[in-house]
Amino acid sequence: MSVEIEQLILPEAQPSSSQSGIRFEPLKPLIDDLSVKGRGFQIGGDKEIRGPETDWDKRAESYDAAWTRERNYQLRIMEFGGLRKSNFQVLAVAGGGSHFEAALALSVERLDVVDMSMGMVRKGQRIFDSRTIRNGERMGFVQGDALNLPYPDNYFDRVVMRHALHHLAQPQQTINEMARVVKEEGVVVLSDGTPPNMNPAVVEDYRNVFGLKEQRRIVTDQDMGIALFMAGLTSVDTDVYWMAGASVSDWLQYSGLDKETQEQIFLTKLHQSEETNHAYGTRYLLVNGEVVEKKPRGATAWFENPDSGEAIHDLIETWRFAIVIGKKPEAMAPKGWRSGR
Ligand SMILES: C[S@@+](CC[C@H](N)C(=O)[O-])C[C@H]1O[C@@H](n2cnc3c(N)ncnc32)[C@H](O)[C@@H]1O
Repeated sequence: MSVEIEQLILPEAQPSSSQSGIRFEPLKPLIDDLSVKGRGFQIGGDKEIRGPETDWDKRAESYDAAWTRERNYQLRIMEFGGLRKSNFQVLAVAGGGSHFEAALALSVERLDVVDMSMGMVRKGQRIFDSRTIRNGERMGFVQGDALNLPYPDNYFDRVVMRHALHHLAQPQQTINEMARVVKEEGVVVLSDGTPPNMNPAVVEDYRNVFGLKEQRRIVTDQDMGIALFMAGLTSVDTDVYWMAGASVSDWLQYSGLDKETQEQIFLTKLHQSEETNHAYGTRYLLVNGEVVEKKPRGATAWFENPDSGEAIHDLIETWRFAIVIGKKPEAMAPKGWRSGR
């Protein structure tokens, strides 16, 4: 059901200074051969995710972390995915609060956002409404399931999904759907957070932290690339964006999670391994404003002892985000993106 349609500004699309990225090598996908901790994890694959459903309607109101709006990351996805063109019709799948999508909408003819959470859809509309609007084309918001996109075949110039693949029970079927609705010669663009490297100790810490947060899987560049190939797409390519200066406390406070879970996650991060600290370039921001590399002895989290000189106000890290694209070949046989339906 189309909820609302809005008018948009259409500035000239910027010339693409394409980030060439790293050529994707189709590697064996990671499998769930690491022990499962936390509330429920699988690595890669198309298996059911265990654990409680993530309640996006509840989380929508306060879901507003700085990383979702980080401009350089948004631009990197737009550039690498070739998303900005003033005559493009673009679909954003699982667009959530539309932090990225509202920015992208300014550079295309029309942007449709589909998300299964009505709370998120409404939030997206509000973010979009708050933008300055001069003239231009339209943006549409739809409440719907990524597994069954309510659009015809070969309809959009680009189809993008950011930070949702790890939540989906059937990621391959969703990507098949994205491949179905993109036009021939069109591009499907995926972006998601990954562990900073695949060292087992680092992956273990990653799993422990995100397992406290929500029901999800760990997604790697390879998983995304293989899923695009499996959907029948070609010219699969990948790029990596490293977000420096990311704030763990900001991420948690604007995650929509309850306070107890935020605290558990902060403490788990505080005690992650040295290898993980190194991989993330973790720095400790003390309450007195000092940034230090080593965790001070007896230091506590920001929520426990904010007045103590030893208390840690924040962890500052560098996070890794993968962007993976695949192109729909001309006159592609329909079996690729229809299979499994
Ligand atoms: C972490 S948010 C990401 C939102 C946005 N793409 C971004 O980058 O900020 C994940 C979103 O996926 C949506 N979602 C999860 N499963 C979905 C499904 N099966 N169909 C549509 N949306 C889904 C949730 O409602 C939520 O808004």
